[in-house]
Amino acid sequence: MAQPQVRLTPNGYEYGPAPHSAKPSASADSGKDGQVAPFPNPRAEGYHEYLPQQPYPIGSLLPAEKFKQNAKPPKLFDALTIRGVEFPNRAWVSPMCQYSSDFGKATDHHFVHLGSMAMRGWGNIMVEASAVVPEGRITPEDSGIWSDDHIPGFKRIVDYVHGLNSKIGIQLAHAGRKASTLAPWVQMIAGDSGWQGGSVASDANGGWGSGVMGPSDISYNEGNYPDVVAASSEYIEDLKKAFLEAVERCKTIGFDFIELHGAHGYLFHEFTSPLSNRRTDNYGGNLENRLRLPLEVTKAVRAAWDGPLFYRLSASDWLEEVDGPEKAHPGEKEEWGWWGIEQTTIFAAQLRDLGVDLLDVSSGGNDKRQKITVGPKYQVPFAAHVKKNVPNLLVGAVGIITEAEESNSIIEDGEADVVFMAREVLRDIDFPLKAAQTLGVAVAPAVQYERAWTRMVVVKEPGETKTKKHRNPEVEGEEGRADDHKEENPHQSIP
Ligand SMILES: Cc1cc2nc3c(=O)[nH]c(=O)nc-3n(C[C@H](O)[C@H](O)[C@H](O)COP(=O)(O)O)c2cc1C
Repeated sequence: MAQPQVRLTPNGYEYGPAPHSAKPSASADSGKDGQVAPFPNPRAEGYHEYLPQQPYPIGSLLPAEKFKQNAKPPKLFDALTIRGVEFPNRAWVSPMCQYSSDFGKATDHHFVHLGSMAMRGWGNIMVEASAVVPEGRITPEDSGIWSDDHIPGFKRIVDYVHGLNSKIGIQLAHAGRKASTLAPWVQMIAGDSGWQGGSVASDANGGWGSGVMGPSDISYNEGNYPDVVAASSEYIEDLKKAFLEAVERCKTIGFDFIELHGAHGYLFHEFTSPLSNRRTDNYGGNLENRLRLPLEVTKAVRAAWDGPLFYRLSASDWLEEVDGPEKAHPGEKEEWGWWGIEQTTIFAAQLRDLGVDLLDVSSGGNDKRQKITVGPKYQVPFAAHVKKNVPNLLVGAVGIITEAEESNSIIEDGEADVVFMAREVLRDIDFPLKAAQTLGVAVAPAVQYERAWTRMVVVKEPGETKTKKHRNPEVEGEEGRADDHKEENPHQSIP
């Protein structure tokens, strides 16, 4: 029997019974009174086993023709298309190391961790910092993409996320002089038990304390962090190749975008900041030289990768209070004292000119003397500065962004184009759907979770905030479901 795709109509999310025109064929297996539902439970195309099709990307606005409240949606729920990849909303998952990889390989933990986000309507998901060479891991348990052995673990995750009609990319990284350290909870446990031996992961514990590379041999924290070897020009050339090999693996895996990690005191940030880069070759010294390595890698990656390309940087070393202004010695050979927003703005324009699509603006991490005033949205002014001063570059804001209205206003006010969230994702994985409810719009939940979200997926007039309550308290959570559909719904009461 030919079966219509019940959920794929342009008029919205249909909960109702079969349309009268859809008659069962004589040969069909008939139910009560000779009736059968003419609708299949369609499968996600191309997925290797049965997975229900998501008729709309989870977290995307449902059609305004039916859901009148979506007529003028908040910008947090505006879809964004970059190089042909459509991200259904602008609440994006910031990369988060899990220190849970098996010699670089993604594990079941990553499948559950990232797969759950895809089920919850995030506009985009980013795999944590993944090292392009083994010595570029922060900890021995960091994620890696330096070998073809890493492909299957990532591919399993990416296929699943795509099966759910969601988007996922990866952050490519090298930890530089902050490599070969202990996972945070190991440091905490060690500290609590009186350990005074610093943060170095010893060779016996999977570390590589003697092979930690940086622009110069300046430790991040003398005695507590590994000693650093200044990268040779051969090392730099090999590193560029390693990034390109990682890009090829990203293509095989099927990632939707790549982000280059240039923040938080890791290798690229170390090269760009005059505090950590004291080289005398053409990769150090003046600003042009300090930017050379990240720009060369960006250019090569851009040439090899057609999809969206993002770059995360730290907009400031936060040393104003300690060292005075960023531009410490105007007119001198090396006029910049530390890395800050002025150099960031120059760098951002060059990244844009090389074809970077989005700048992900974070801060700090390169100098332990940093003085940061932390609070809600504390890094947003950096993002806003880049947005204002570097046209034609998308900008992401990150850092203690936790509320629906706040996230939306950052975009509405033109301070950034997307918001990245990290710890709030770990506290409240349902943030995107809850935010939609708070902001008064209807977005698609995963079909499997739809019964928990009927309070949001209810047709309202623009501006209407009242939520219809279901008569039966037992089924709280399905309030709002239209009464005339209840009779046909065999699942209307729990279970
Ligand atoms: C557990 C954890 C792991 C992180 N790992 C990364 C990472 O892999 N790459 C990165 O650029 N930032 C990493 N960060 C920083 C976050 O992406 C984010 O920039 C920061 O936590 C501020 O955002 P939040 O206030 O929403 O948590 C990590 C943060 C946390 C909490």
